[in-house]
Amino acid sequence: MTIRYGLAAFENDLRAILGRASDFRQIIEEARPFFRQLLDDDELVPEAYRQPLPDKYAQYLLYKPEDNAFSVVAFVWGPGQTAPVHDHLTWGLVGVWRGGIEEKRYHRTRIEDGRQEAYKLQEVQTVRASQGDISYVYPPDRDIHGVSNPFDDTAITVHVYGTDIGQQQRFIYDTDSADARPVVTRHANAQPIYAAGALPDRDVPAGRSGLRKEG
Ligand SMILES: [Fe+2]
Repeated sequence: MTIRYGLAAFENDLRAILGRASDFRQIIEEARPFFRQLLDDDELVPEAYRQPLPDKYAQYLLYKPEDNAFSVVAFVWGPGQTAPVHDHLTWGLVGVWRGGIEEKRYHRTRIEDGRQEAYKLQEVQTVRASQGDISYVYPPDRDIHGVSNPFDDTAITVHVYGTDIGQQQRFIYDTDSADARPVVTRHANAQPIYAAGALPDRDVPAGRSGLRKEG
């Protein structure tokens, strides 16, 4: 019998970490091995949510607890689809579940011109990631990035954030001017795919997860 590490086990492990750690780097480091197990789940993103939308990347809320202590979100990237350069203002782990993506990381720094508030955006790193790779974000040091799928196949990424990212007020950046524009990027689905309060205990046999799927 296959033992499946699913969202219920992940929530148990993540809540234990959140109970003892508040530093974003520490949360990321401690949560990463559990997130890796979650990412290994071949059923994590249900079949119905694996197709790209024609016009832009799709953002599906997989799960969030009722207290919004964290959220688990799937993004589906068609070939060539891209997300503008943005921040998160909370910690986040970004895992590639299927396919591959390209992540460009930026630093935003104040320019001292004496007259008005001005910033510059500097590209500091480009990373190509494939299935099983995990990246992370946290403010203020490593929070600004752009993500795209430059490949020929659909990519699916699964992210966990330290709040409901679909309600989080954050910013999109103009790469030339470094101007910041406030934004809330809402999930495509109003209700999470896996309902809060319906998660089973740890170590659930494959195919009998007990998770209640909605939509
Ligand atoms: Fe992001």
